[in-house]
Amino acid sequence: MVTRAPQLEWLEGDVPKATGFQDTYFSKAGGLEETRHVFLAGNGLPERLQGRENFTVAEFGFGTGLNFLTTLAALGEIKSPPELSFVSFELFPLALSQLKRALNAFPELNAYSEELLSVWQPEPGWNEIAVGSAKLVLGVGDARELISDLSSTQGEKACAPQDPIAVDAWYLDGFSPARNPELWDEGLLKAAADLTVIGGTIATYTAAGWVRRNLQAAGFQIEKKPGFAGKREMVVGLKA
Ligand SMILES: C[S@@+](CC[C@H](N)C(=O)[O-])C[C@H]1O[C@@H](n2cnc3c(N)ncnc32)[C@H](O)[C@@H]1O
Repeated sequence: MVTRAPQLEWLEGDVPKATGFQDTYFSKAGGLEETRHVFLAGNGLPERLQGRENFTVAEFGFGTGLNFLTTLAALGEIKSPPELSFVSFELFPLALSQLKRALNAFPELNAYSEELLSVWQPEPGWNEIAVGSAKLVLGVGDARELISDLSSTQGEKACAPQDPIAVDAWYLDGFSPARNPELWDEGLLKAAADLTVIGGTIATYTAAGWVRRNLQAAGFQIEKKPGFAGKREMVVGLKA
């Protein structure tokens, strides 16, 4: 089986847009700032990384890796950083040339991007890749199918990642729910909640009513916060 690179259009400032989903990978108003506002601050990061021995972030939609690299950069600012496991799912991994072009827009992340580009060879199924001091666990395929590999019986499954996954913070980044309802599906969010530690959190840019209801049904207490770049609302949540 081979991976399927997405068809992209490039908007102003080299912002990639997936033709198939008619949506951009990050905000035209500033991808790095959006990631810091929505996904890091929305999950209480980088503050929650302080004093931890290990920390697990999980994400729906690896895309350009911008969220991953921004998290690595935040980790790099911490005195005694935790060991970071970053679990992400991606149905259409970018080709190396696409990834390179997308990440070119973020010179601040160069040191980390170069490491990712040097090892970027995603294969269908689970890929465990060392990037800097972090472990990237990338599931290439449909998140709705792959997530069941990460259950309590993980150790018994030959195809699953080696170490058990207990998620501290989720980045829910699956394109707009109207354009890609699959990644906001109630069953998928329930499976995400089951993998989350008590006190674990989620953050997302969407405040769509049905997504909020799915998150609540999955077991997260949710709260609306001001969104990025003039967006009225985003959503954060806690597994209490
Ligand atoms: C908004 S983009 C993610 C942006 C990314 N987090 C970043 O830092 O660049 C959404 C991603 O979800 C992926 N995706 C869409 N449906 C999926 C599915 N069913 N399973 C896994 N990934 C999916 C898309 O291919 C796309 O890369």
